[in-house]
Amino acid sequence: MNKRASLKSEQELRDQILSIASLGQVAMAMALGVELKLFEAMATVCKASPKHSATVAEVAAQAACKERYIYEWMAAMTCGNLIDVDPSGQHFSMRPEHIPVWIGGEGQLPEHSLHVIDFLPGFGGAFNKVKEAFRLDGPPGVPYSAYEDTFYTVMAAWSRTIHDGELCSGYMELIGALELLQKGVNVLEAGCGAGFHIEKMARTFPNSHFTGIDLTQSAINTATTRCEGLPNVKLICGNASHLDKKWTEHFDVVFFIDSCHDMCRPDLAINEVQRVLKPGGLFSMIEWPNGNGNVYEDRKKYGSAVSALFYAASAMHCLPVGSHVEGALQLGNMMGHGRGRKLLEMGGFAKDKIEVLEPPFMPYNCVYTARK
Ligand SMILES: C[S@@+](CC[C@H](N)C(=O)[O-])C[C@H]1O[C@@H](n2cnc3c(N)ncnc32)[C@H](O)[C@@H]1O
Repeated sequence: MNKRASLKSEQELRDQILSIASLGQVAMAMALGVELKLFEAMATVCKASPKHSATVAEVAAQAACKERYIYEWMAAMTCGNLIDVDPSGQHFSMRPEHIPVWIGGEGQLPEHSLHVIDFLPGFGGAFNKVKEAFRLDGPPGVPYSAYEDTFYTVMAAWSRTIHDGELCSGYMELIGALELLQKGVNVLEAGCGAGFHIEKMARTFPNSHFTGIDLTQSAINTATTRCEGLPNVKLICGNASHLDKKWTEHFDVVFFIDSCHDMCRPDLAINEVQRVLKPGGLFSMIEWPNGNGNVYEDRKKYGSAVSALFYAASAMHCLPVGSHVEGALQLGNMMGHGRGRKLLEMGGFAKDKIEVLEPPFMPYNCVYTARK
């Protein structure tokens, strides 16, 4: 059998390029729809209409946007087969059963891939810097500050869609932290971003104390607003590789949630985790995506669309930010369990106390746990 089964005929290759060019442009236009709440506007108009349809003027008025622009946008969404139009070309429709996919519904969040699309404009803003980082004579990577601050809010919104359901139940139970957190312990999350997880944990486990640290001040500002009024949360701008000297053996549980592969020196950060954990304390990392470290295996496991999404996001963001200082480990988001385990071992965790789990309730994530 041809092991390179994905290699295409010349025409198939041309078709694939055209399809990606088209979807790329549609994706950027969809990001506008997310940011300007155009899908919400269209859903609102359709829901109120007896024929479940909407005109450009109605959507434009509902979204407080210019009609001419909204026509172009609705036409792009129509040609992308995301919404529909009648033969007059005037009456657009969103199927009723599609509305929760776009805007969420009773107990249902919108489709999480919409947040993935919403990363695109922010990545685009750093495009030239990423391009320079690729060059032999360019800088080693791209600092977080080169990306729009919107990265952190989009990240938090997306984290909510993938972790809201199980973070404080299935996940905590899986890693053996549920009872601890319910009873009341000291918890650190390094790389807390805009604070989705800290807020959720602090509300669910009021007896525990949560400290969140992130490299970026604007992320900490957003997290601080989000956690306002929660007495059990402390948020600090700082580097996980150099934690407070006073924290030695202070924490019962330390989390890295989707932050390890974005760190330049996760090895130093994990050394610090060893220092700040109490003896017997628990360290857990959630890593998204759950890469293998071998692209052939990754494509086989996830299929082309999903594995390409992971690697392309890594090339545009995770790898450049995780490379931006000399000596950075340059993990990339598909680093694989072998690399992850090695980091924990190098950080001082005993081999037999490290576990890597793939919880079925968190697709595409993997969970590392280690005991001090
Ligand atoms: C992919 S985001 C994840 C944010 C958040 N944990 C979430 O899942 O929504 C990675 C975060 O790690 C932070 N980060 C990267 N390196 C760090 C370091 N050395 N110390 C502290 N935070 C760091 C980034 O600023 C960013 O907010």
